[in-house]
Amino acid sequence: MARFAIWLACALALLASSISFAAIVEHSFNVENFVATKLCREQEITAVNGGLPGPTIGVKEGDTLVVHVFNKSPYGITIHWHGVFQLQSQWADGPSNVTQCAIPTGQSYTYRFNVTGQEGTLWWHSHVSWLRATVYGALIIQPKHGRSAYPFPKPHKEIPILLGEWWNANVVDVENEGLAAGIAPNISDAYTINGKPGDLYPCSENDMYKIKVERGRTYMLRIINAALNNQLFFKIANHTMTVVAIDASYTDPYETDVIVTAPGQTVDVLIKADQPVGSYYMAARPYVSVPLPTVIPFDNTTTRGIFAYEGSESNNPVMPTLPDFLDTPTAHKFYTNLTGLAGGPHWVPVPLDVDEHMFVTVGLSTEPCEEINATCPNGQRFSASMNNESFVFPQNASMLEAYYYGRVDGVYTTDFPDNPPIVFDYTNPSLSNVEPLIFAPKSTKVKKLKFNSTVEMVLQNTALQAAENHPIHIHGFNFHVLAQGFGNYDAVSDSTKFNLVNPQIRNTIAVPSGGWAVVRFQANNPGVWLVHCHLDVHLPVGMAMAFEVGNGPTPSSTLPPPPSDLPRC
Ligand code: C2O
Ligand code: CU
Repeated sequence: MARFAIWLACALALLASSISFAAIVEHSFNVENFVATKLCREQEITAVNGGLPGPTIGVKEGDTLVVHVFNKSPYGITIHWHGVFQLQSQWADGPSNVTQCAIPTGQSYTYRFNVTGQEGTLWWHSHVSWLRATVYGALIIQPKHGRSAYPFPKPHKEIPILLGEWWNANVVDVENEGLAAGIAPNISDAYTINGKPGDLYPCSENDMYKIKVERGRTYMLRIINAALNNQLFFKIANHTMTVVAIDASYTDPYETDVIVTAPGQTVDVLIKADQPVGSYYMAARPYVSVPLPTVIPFDNTTTRGIFAYEGSESNNPVMPTLPDFLDTPTAHKFYTNLTGLAGGPHWVPVPLDVDEHMFVTVGLSTEPCEEINATCPNGQRFSASMNNESFVFPQNASMLEAYYYGRVDGVYTTDFPDNPPIVFDYTNPSLSNVEPLIFAPKSTKVKKLKFNSTVEMVLQNTALQAAENHPIHIHGFNFHVLAQGFGNYDAVSDSTKFNLVNPQIRNTIAVPSGGWAVVRFQANNPGVWLVHCHLDVHLPVGMAMAFEVGNGPTPSSTLPPPPSDLPRC
């Protein structure tokens, strides 16, 4: 009998290790206001489960994630699962008035979706107004149960590093004040590492993130740029890092002593604790992509935390030398030297036949107004656009619902242009204030795509008002980054630079300041998918568009009906 029991146990264990299980991972998010003490003062913030950042969610690829969101905050809330494909769960994507309306105060909603076909570091954040400043957290997807894990040696420990941005103010008010005045809102007061600003800020000596490491071990940092408006350089004193993944897609290993990330992006690095036992700062500060002589106000502070070896007595951690704020060459080198791990887990080859060629300008604009007054200084308001269309979120309607029920009239139109209305010298700073180039009409336009069509988008920055690097995020899809460069994109000469073999796969591309990037993806996911700049100074004033992707031939390529409890408008 005993022998049989042992045999059975062994057999079951064997079976368990060879079959993959898909688990249901369940979480509850209480979204509430509470008072946080930071930078010598008390500030009421909206956050999840009383933490900043909110909970880290861990799943294995193939699992089902179920998150019950209880909105006890004074604001309407949605949660976006940044980078999750949402195949067959399109209604769970989360951008307000695109795939759902906000969960009202006092109500709850349960997000349910499978996480399939992707693994690595993603994150979740609120997708209403500027609330993501405090409503955010990590979403870590491990390889499937039973699959033999990473395409690199397993690190001793994995540590999420969420880089954030902090205001000594209510962020919803900061945004609204900017919008009301027709200007860019106030800059932030601090950056944070896992919610902590670190000792370069007032009253923050003890509000500093610390990692303890053992000498000789290798650690994985899963770095997420959750800041609202700033790209960030990140460095650890005296240590090199090996990048192994970006945006939850594996890369060829890339060694570097500095990384740069744009809001929305993630970078996984391996770091070996191979230096003398001691204490080292890790630090982040902005990469400001607007070239001189334009001077824009920005938060020029530095957040830092500590990477301390066990046994270290040091009270004087070594500080890394961070690149200059304006160091575009360093940022560009990092962004362009990364390549995808062709043939690795979840690798997708580049689709070679393009069905839809789009050339899309991204940049700042202005909105003319009738009268000059407090809400309209100089007769124009700060705005932003794609192909000169300045996106307006529909009021009291969800685009996906309008699409599903065939009631798009009055919600959006399907004439988002494939090209800008006027061909001009896009990156020429001397055209920076030329009318009518800088005026962009307000609209809610989508581009219709056939199921499974292959789309190539040239994203061309403009220098209108100021050239700047815009991190463009596409919901619902990953894309290949075929090439990037400065100046105006030249279809003849620049297309010869395409990497069709092992390009990066991303969900957010930092389009070079005064330059362009070419991305390609297959529209294999029916629904309405927002495309936008991940700087929250640009999204609410119009740097967005959307794709409306039709159904495919099978049930699994058809947009399912909305969940019965989906928050309506
Ligand atoms: Cu992380 Cu639409 O955004
Ligand atoms: Cu932008």
